[in-house]
Amino acid sequence: MANKKVAILPGDGIGPEVVKQAIKVIQSVNAEFGHSFDMQVMDFGAISIENHGLPLTETVLAECKASDAVLLGAIGDPKYDHDLQTTVRPEQGLLQLRKSLQLYSNLRPIKVYPSISNFSPLKNSLLDGVDILFVRELIGGIYFGKKTLSEDKKSASDLCSYTDDEIKRIARIGFEEAFERKKKLTLVDKANVLETSRLWRRVVQEMSNEYPEINVDYMYVDNAAMQLMLNPRQFDVIITSNMFGDILSDLGSVLGGSIGLLPSASKGPNNALFEPIHGSYPQAKGLDKANPLATILAAAMMYHYFGMFEECNLIERFVAVAIEENILTEDLNNGKYLCSQVGDWVAKKIKESSISYNQI
Ligand code: IPM
Ligand code: MN
Repeated sequence: MANKKVAILPGDGIGPEVVKQAIKVIQSVNAEFGHSFDMQVMDFGAISIENHGLPLTETVLAECKASDAVLLGAIGDPKYDHDLQTTVRPEQGLLQLRKSLQLYSNLRPIKVYPSISNFSPLKNSLLDGVDILFVRELIGGIYFGKKTLSEDKKSASDLCSYTDDEIKRIARIGFEEAFERKKKLTLVDKANVLETSRLWRRVVQEMSNEYPEINVDYMYVDNAAMQLMLNPRQFDVIITSNMFGDILSDLGSVLGGSIGLLPSASKGPNNALFEPIHGSYPQAKGLDKANPLATILAAAMMYHYFGMFEECNLIERFVAVAIEENILTEDLNNGKYLCSQVGDWVAKKIKESSISYNQI
């Protein structure tokens, strides 16, 4: 039995509907285990710009800091994508939240569920046994470097910089995750061109002496993109910088057949944030057809972070059963089930499992 404070940021687009399903699942897990979560729902992203003038208010930031974890849906609205002049954008809220909570490590697991591997554009023979963990640096690099735009607006720059300490702390997460898995670590960089990448390589090479059990591999990002499509089974844990991790994790998401299945965890020294890796999918907003499984799996990662491993396993198990039994939304099953029906199904299965468990 535990009490936790969880900040809920449904955000924009399909965010609110997928988060609602994750909350259903959290409530049924908590009922079974006797946990009580204080879940405060707050504005974030475009909705916050609309209601409060900025994507992340001081109040929301303070609540997130004071919480044990943050559960986020998605942010973004096409309105801002098409207006390049605008100075207030929903994405700023997410970047500010990551930075303020010091969420330097972003874990993005990619798994292939055999029963739906035919939804992947890749040949089935390439997908069997694929299990990759992206460990993306999240609060440094080109995302957060100095930005300039000349007065005549004809030249612009974004600085990419890393310190050895920033690299060490994310690399350590990579080594430790690899230790718990297949003990293979691939550093993806562009060390043939970028000075920051050469620093990453030096730091990782040095650290590899501390981890003699781990098989460390180095790969240029362009080749890594190709290898992810040609032979994804070769990867176990991939560590990489903020920008490369952003791009490659979207690419990696096609392996599993739908980006709608992939959760992510962003962790720092005192806080953590859990979210699906998909975006706000504005075309589907309010239509109850988005895939809620990524957000439900993000909630499972949150339990794992809390040290509640049984709770995490229970959710992951029933998500796997849902997939096997084709309780799936449009992206994977021609729209046979609605977003809310998938959420209801997983929540109900968890409740039923508790009944049979108690009866034994
Ligand atoms: C992600 C997203 C974000 C990023 C955007 C929304 C700022 O694409 O979490 O991968 O680029 O990090
Ligand atoms: Mn992204």
